[in-house]
Amino acid sequence: MNNVKTKVLEALRKVDDPDLKKDLVSLGMIDKLHIDGTTISFTIILTTPACPLQEVIKRACIQAIHAAVMDEFEIVITFTAKVTSGRSSSSVLPGVKNIIAIASGKGGVGKSTIATHLALALSNSGAHVGLLDADIFGPSIPTMWGCVTSRPTVMKRDGKNHIIPINRYNVQLLSIGFLSNMQEAIVWRGPMASAAFKQLLQDTDWGTLDYLLIDLPPGTSDIHLTLVQTVSITGAIVVTTPQKIALIDATKAIAMFRKEQIRVPILGLIENMSYFLTEQKNGSKPHYIFGKDGGKRLAEQASIPFLGQIPLLSMICQHGDLGTMPAKPIMPFHTIAKMLAQQISIQNATYKQDNQ
Ligand SMILES: Nc1ncnc2c1ncn2[C@@H]1O[C@H](COP(=O)(O)OP(=O)(O)OP(=O)(O)O)[C@@H](O)[C@H]1O
Ligand SMILES: [Mg+2]
Repeated sequence: MNNVKTKVLEALRKVDDPDLKKDLVSLGMIDKLHIDGTTISFTIILTTPACPLQEVIKRACIQAIHAAVMDEFEIVITFTAKVTSGRSSSSVLPGVKNIIAIASGKGGVGKSTIATHLALALSNSGAHVGLLDADIFGPSIPTMWGCVTSRPTVMKRDGKNHIIPINRYNVQLLSIGFLSNMQEAIVWRGPMASAAFKQLLQDTDWGTLDYLLIDLPPGTSDIHLTLVQTVSITGAIVVTTPQKIALIDATKAIAMFRKEQIRVPILGLIENMSYFLTEQKNGSKPHYIFGKDGGKRLAEQASIPFLGQIPLLSMICQHGDLGTMPAKPIMPFHTIAKMLAQQISIQNATYKQDNQ
């Protein structure tokens, strides 16, 4: 039996995680290896429950093991996930493994919508997720999540007040909209808005989170600076629509994250409102009303991973307006969430390597 176990481990040493470019055994991803008669069973610990490569890794393991031991062994592989972090545990919000900023240059391109559906998709995959609305002047999260009348509670611990986020669909939500009347305009100077944002971020009991998504206001504002000065961020996502006017502003957002004083890794670019579909006799036909592939090209030019295109769908707008959630993640968001989780794992591995 021990002989078989040794051979299996040897075989698994030849299987690399395609993203992390190291073998599964060295990465500590193999657990509970057990041989029972002609059954070999083990668990693979992924770096995210939203891993898009699960099947690829499984096939590679089976192939490698069957090449090393006899074919008649049955191989039972189960998956579990331990989300990685590149953030220091001594930093602000140590219980939060990854902080992801969702930004754009231009307003109205779909940041809040994307933040909402990505949070939902990541949570559906089994991750612990939070979503902070950083748009102090125009919070959308309470409306999009159908909880405008919700009010977070405050808990006193160690002589300090902690805000308890609102739990909706298993996602921890917080927005200035929960603390103010949504109909009233907030008229504050920049420093007041930044102070309010900092308080929402820092004084909240987020618990243990794998991913905290931050829905930023448009542009390159005080809030962006406050965010990067307050916490260490895993990375940012830039959202754009395909037309030139939006791309010019997206380029500025990319430049901001790459500035020496800011230096936030860009995990990817998402193109929203890429096209709409009309039903034809021979299938659906896409209409690129804002031009084709503008965001995709920008991602290539700026050497940023392209996370995907989202079509204009009335269902997306309706869910946002009504504050309802689809029974299961809408397809492009599901795929994009997996790609994002993948980029986060790659980013964390790179961080670990650079800081060893
Ligand atoms: N792919 C889509 N299909 C249909 N409607 C969409 C899509 N993406 C966003 N919308 C709608 O467009 C509007 C603007 O989206 P959203 O509020 O998410 O943009 P934003 O970038 O967060 O805006 P702001 O810059 O004001 O914060 C919303 O009504 C939303 O429902
Ligand atoms: Mg918004």
